[in-house]
Amino acid sequence: MREWKQQVAVITGGGSGIGEALAHACADRGMRVALADVESEAAHRVAEAIRSRGGEALAWAVDVGNREAVTDFAAGVRESFGACHLLCNNAGVLVTRPLLEIEAKDWEWCLSVNLWGAIHSVSAFVPGMLESGAPGHVVNTASIVGLVPIAQGNLGAYTTTKFALVGFSESLRAELQALGAPIGVSVVCPGAVTTRIAESERNRPSQLKTGPAQVPPEADPHASPTPGKQSSEAVAAAILAGVENDETWILTHPEMKPLVAGRATALLEAFDRAALRRPD
Ligand SMILES: NC(=O)c1ccc[n+]([C@@H]2O[C@H](COP(=O)([O-])OP(=O)(O)OC[C@H]3O[C@@H](n4cnc5c(N)ncnc54)[C@H](O)[C@@H]3O)[C@@H](O)[C@H]2O)c1
Repeated sequence: MREWKQQVAVITGGGSGIGEALAHACADRGMRVALADVESEAAHRVAEAIRSRGGEALAWAVDVGNREAVTDFAAGVRESFGACHLLCNNAGVLVTRPLLEIEAKDWEWCLSVNLWGAIHSVSAFVPGMLESGAPGHVVNTASIVGLVPIAQGNLGAYTTTKFALVGFSESLRAELQALGAPIGVSVVCPGAVTTRIAESERNRPSQLKTGPAQVPPEADPHASPTPGKQSSEAVAAAILAGVENDETWILTHPEMKPLVAGRATALLEAFDRAALRRPD
């Protein structure tokens, strides 16, 4: 069993949904919690709720897509709490626009939060984690669409960022293992979870706004009453259990297995066709 007490958990997007539940779950295990969110008020509200239950938590207003802001956040956490032990790159936004209609600003926003956010955070925190020599873990929250694209909902851009995040996470895990570093890396790939992700537009910076061509929230599989939709609390508990086991992929929705199996089978069949085509 991992010793969590007094360890430092850093959670981006900690003001709502899965990040908020993760913050409470970490505090319940005796961890000191550093929250970052672009919605400063929400992050402060969560930190206050943890403190009112006797825990230790602080909040910072951070746009994870902004490298300097994330670097300053890391310096602030180090000053307040010391080195990070559990880095949860959870902040994310949903763009639901067909790929043939999507605008550059949609791409910029979605990539900056979902992909650059995790990249900036790893660059800002992992060197300090390595330097401390203490065991640690990085958790990147992707999505089931980081493992298999889903046709409905115009999730193409979101899917692109989450596939990239899965690749980033697996590569980081391999590199840290090769270094012999005591830092694990997991990527979380949930299906639908009851959160405010379908209201992501609330956080889009004004300079990256595009027209109202978004699909209505009820057409979005993250927002609709999808069978098997889970609570943020259940996903947070699964994440910490997966970290305890040092799992590469932390999965939460077993009913998604056939979709991933279908993609894997089709991929393997492509290798079989390649073998048949090979001239030698
Ligand atoms: N809800 C789902 O069905 C679902 C499924 C799979 C994966 N996810 C992923 O889970 C993660 C958490 O999302 P959620 O579902 O809890 O949604 P949510 O909207 O409830 O929470 C996301 C949090 O990220 C914050 N955020 C947004 N942009 C930010 C930025 N630029 N900088 C810092 N913080 C920012 C928001 O303010 C919010 O507090 C996301 O990465 C999302 O893609 C969600």
